[in-house]
Amino acid sequence: MLDKINSEIIKTENDILIMLDNLLEKRDSEWWNNFYSDKEKPIPFFKNIADENLISYFDRELIKHGKALDIGCGNGRNSFYLAQRGMEANGIDFSKTSIEWGKQIEKEQSTKVNFLCQSIFEFQDKPESFDFIYDSGCLHHIKPHRRNQYLKTILKYLKPDGYFAMICFNLKGGANISDYDVYRDNSMLGGLGFSEYKLKTILEPYFEIIEFREMKESTDENIFGKSFMWTVLMKKKPL
Ligand SMILES: C[S@@+](CC[C@H](N)C(=O)[O-])C[C@H]1O[C@@H](n2cnc3c(N)ncnc32)[C@H](O)[C@@H]1O
Repeated sequence: MLDKINSEIIKTENDILIMLDNLLEKRDSEWWNNFYSDKEKPIPFFKNIADENLISYFDRELIKHGKALDIGCGNGRNSFYLAQRGMEANGIDFSKTSIEWGKQIEKEQSTKVNFLCQSIFEFQDKPESFDFIYDSGCLHHIKPHRRNQYLKTILKYLKPDGYFAMICFNLKGGANISDYDVYRDNSMLGGLGFSEYKLKTILEPYFEIIEFREMKESTDENIFGKSFMWTVLMKKKPL
């Protein structure tokens, strides 16, 4: 008991974040390693195809070239697309198994992606050096008390005129629970669903929203498109 009293001391704001991390059911890198261990599982995002909205940004020439970061890149399916469209593609994911899978695909198709096995919360690079930051399905797994830290990381590394885009669960796809419920039930229930109001409330203090819409359901087997996702394209608001 004395050990606990001496180790579980809350003295800084960071200690509060760590305490909240510990309240919730674990969904750490080990959990994701296990998730990616069977590549044959019928998971839609296990296929090496890019997101419908991401393709549309390039087709409309909103995103053109430069340095890109794919946050929570998994097996790198969107990172490969970024590289194929001429960007310097960097994919970060804290799951070793997903990154190894990405590196294996990289060898097979000889498309260059710089894979980094690390948590986004430990990411370090030159500030304001990315033209494009993308997140396909990571934000809805970020614990509510870590969300601000996550957004500040994007703000730190995005160029002033760069774009940030993401897809995340809407209420058809993710858990229909509030941020408070996460702590009442000690769980993110497989990924949070966002209402339009909630997502805009979280993003708008930092970003000017250029496009906010439901992802288009795709019948093309070479495109990932699911209407249970929101897609958002944004620019950084000036400080
Ligand atoms: C739903 S999967 C999406 C994977 C990929 N973006 C795709 O669409 O195929 C979410 C990914 O986020 C990663 N992830 C979750 N939290 C992370 C963190 N703190 N840092 C880096 N990656 C994280 C997981 O390992 C997982 O690969």
